[in-house]
Amino acid sequence: MSLIDDTTRESWIQSVFPEWGEWLNEEIGETRVTPGTFAMWWLGCTGIWLKSENNTDIVVDFWVGRGKVTQDFSKLPPHLGGPDFQLNRMVGGRQRFPNTRMIPVVMDPFKVRKLDAYLVTHNHRDHMDPNSLAAIYHKFPDIPFIGPEYVTKQWIEWGLPKERCTTVKPGDVIKVKDCEIVVLDSFDRTVLLTAPRDGELKGHCPDDMDRRSVNYLIKTPGGSFYHSGDSHFSNYTLRHGKQHQIDVAIASFGENPPGLTDKMTSSDVLRMAENLRCKVIIPVHYETWSCFMADTREVDVLYDMRRDRLKYEFKPYIWQVGGKFVYPDNKDDRHFMFERGFEHAMEEEPNVYFKSFL
Ligand SMILES: [Fe+2]
Repeated sequence: MSLIDDTTRESWIQSVFPEWGEWLNEEIGETRVTPGTFAMWWLGCTGIWLKSENNTDIVVDFWVGRGKVTQDFSKLPPHLGGPDFQLNRMVGGRQRFPNTRMIPVVMDPFKVRKLDAYLVTHNHRDHMDPNSLAAIYHKFPDIPFIGPEYVTKQWIEWGLPKERCTTVKPGDVIKVKDCEIVVLDSFDRTVLLTAPRDGELKGHCPDDMDRRSVNYLIKTPGGSFYHSGDSHFSNYTLRHGKQHQIDVAIASFGENPPGLTDKMTSSDVLRMAENLRCKVIIPVHYETWSCFMADTREVDVLYDMRRDRLKYEFKPYIWQVGGKFVYPDNKDDRHFMFERGFEHAMEEEPNVYFKSFL
């Protein structure tokens, strides 16, 4: 049999996906964090892996799924593509949400080497994921699985034992080795429009945001990280900034189509940072869906226009999925670049026909 004969769709999928293989699993597993710092990796969307100086590994919103994979929307259930889908409720129509996944899966959930806590902010499909949940639970059954009520309820329906779930609400504090996880309010208005109530919402009061979505402040000995989930800008953001020392924060940024506000604009990203009084703000989520694609240069340009007048004390950081960020080492960098390699270039004589090739 030849390679051509042996190659099938299944063999292609097995040999190509996930595109990054174990690259990031190895990098995170082998990283030792310098005392006085903490390290983070961006897994895509709002997926963040955090590692403390004492080797505590915490993952938030470990999503390894995908979006639309067919243009035939007629087969989608009402809560995903029909009138009960939250964005259709918001815009008052039944428009298409053409959200194909834009980024590769950079971390293999089945090859994770060590983990101390698995956190989810809210019960949207791009934040909680049965694949990563199953992979992590089977390998690390004793770690805490932490989320608000709607998240843990979904996990139990998927088969996670109830005793493994830690249901949290704003005000709760959970200790995970050398880290302290402070549960804070979410300001994700979209999640309030999400099922379960079918049909007419007018005249009904939604149940509490706290049951559906939370933000997390993860305090490490080397600094703190604020995970805002899919929160929008809120005036209450300043309360979080005044009550907590926040070093690094992420903000869900994206380009909204007319009639819809699901992601924050560049202006709101900067307002969130100013109100959180953080040192670094990192826009995320704009890279996830094709239909929300946004240009992060907007954040940079707006920041440079405002920084002196408004006396900003933070900096924006434009990251890349799969990239590493260390606080405080990278706090002034503003832009991420992957390892470029070839550090030993020209230390030996090149092996070429003539130097004129060079
Ligand atoms: Fe999201």
